[in-house]
Amino acid sequence: MPESRCMQGIWSSPWLFILAASGSAVGLGNIWKFPYMVGENGGGAFLFVYLLCLLLVGLPVLIAEVALGRSVRSNPIDTINDLHERHIVTKGWVFVPYLAGLAGFLILSFYSVIAGWALAFFERSLKGVFKGVTKDETQGIFSTLVGTPTEMLAWHSVFVLLVILCVGQSVTRGLAMLVKILLPVLIVMLFGLSIYSSIVGDFDKTVSFLFSWNWNQITPDVVLAAVGHAFFSLSIGMGGMFAYAAYMSKHMSIARACTIVVGVDTLVAILAGLVVLPLVFSLNIDVDTGPSLTFVSLPVAFGRLPGGLFVGAIFFLLLILAALTSAISMLELFVSWLHERFYVSRLKAAFGLGVGVWLLGFISLLSLNEWKDIHIFGFIIFDFLDKFTSLILLPMIALLLSVLVALRIPRNMLENELITRNPKHFKWWYNVLKFCSIPIMVVITVGGWIGV
Ligand code: PHE
Repeated sequence: MPESRCMQGIWSSPWLFILAASGSAVGLGNIWKFPYMVGENGGGAFLFVYLLCLLLVGLPVLIAEVALGRSVRSNPIDTINDLHERHIVTKGWVFVPYLAGLAGFLILSFYSVIAGWALAFFERSLKGVFKGVTKDETQGIFSTLVGTPTEMLAWHSVFVLLVILCVGQSVTRGLAMLVKILLPVLIVMLFGLSIYSSIVGDFDKTVSFLFSWNWNQITPDVVLAAVGHAFFSLSIGMGGMFAYAAYMSKHMSIARACTIVVGVDTLVAILAGLVVLPLVFSLNIDVDTGPSLTFVSLPVAFGRLPGGLFVGAIFFLLLILAALTSAISMLELFVSWLHERFYVSRLKAAFGLGVGVWLLGFISLLSLNEWKDIHIFGFIIFDFLDKFTSLILLPMIALLLSVLVALRIPRNMLENELITRNPKHFKWWYNVLKFCSIPIMVVITVGGWIGV
């Protein structure tokens, strides 16, 4: 692949890839989605399966995606085209990256609606609305927001505009710098809040809920939810990691970089669980309430904490920025492709795609109120998009990419890419991907189709 096709530069420091990839992974999935998924799926049982999925599927597949991206140093669409031109893969594989781009596009449409909730809660924190609120009042605030399409549309539009402006710039600029400040601050804040929650909330109940389970709680639905969330949380299968890997320095160990990303992502999710769940238990909120869990429980704590309104505003600001660094990676695949292949400016490409995302997001936000009677396979449009992407599309694309890496790409090409000091590590990864991750993903993809 000619170097000129990688027009957007190589990350100037090996750490920048880790930062950008962590920025993509850490987002609403960790702070908004993880606590309520744990709550809905039985606590410890979900956490146990989730951690197992990260090890047996998430990490090996992430390594595969990144190795593929770095090996050809181009956007995912051109990478697979190139493999096809070199007769390594057949024509059918060329469609896989388009599917990945589609997944990013679909996810962003509802992701930006939720980021809009964070924007709305940021505004309310600044206005002091949460001072001394009770759980019933925050439930009321949340329901009013979700029941008011005009306000949600306004915040959704603001978020999509922010994404367009950010993706419109070259990703090597700014993004990693933002994550470098954002992640440590977010982790320290979550850590501090978890200590506060453990003091004012029901910490004992949280610990027994999160860290104990019995085997009959591990149902097919829980497994499906855990695998789907592992893909969502690690941003696997929608090509963003693949696209970022194209800019990664050759000297960086891919396995090490990916392990750090998985570690950071898991740390943030568990900390978020330790912040939200003690409050949920002490406020007697149903732990399986669903998507409103974080938004209903946290403001109550902010309203009581000394200086809590300020802390709340900072928290929601960090959440918005974390969502933004994830959202950027969702559009990166198509934007980098349009830019490199058709010389469309990044801003124009981002704008065109952003308008599509905005329109689809508009439809999914209406499904939460005006159109809540319209169902697809028994789900409102918003939930359908969430389930379809996490449980079907991402696992399916990840499966295809893994089959490509494990069974189609010549082994020596991978060995060159995954420079490890210890060849045993390569064998380990290769065998886990081939004999463990791929069979699990086959079962999950089939299960996803049957279940949804
Ligand atoms: N990983 C992101 C999060 O946890 C969401 C995401 C999904 C980002 C898929 C990119 C692709 O919020």
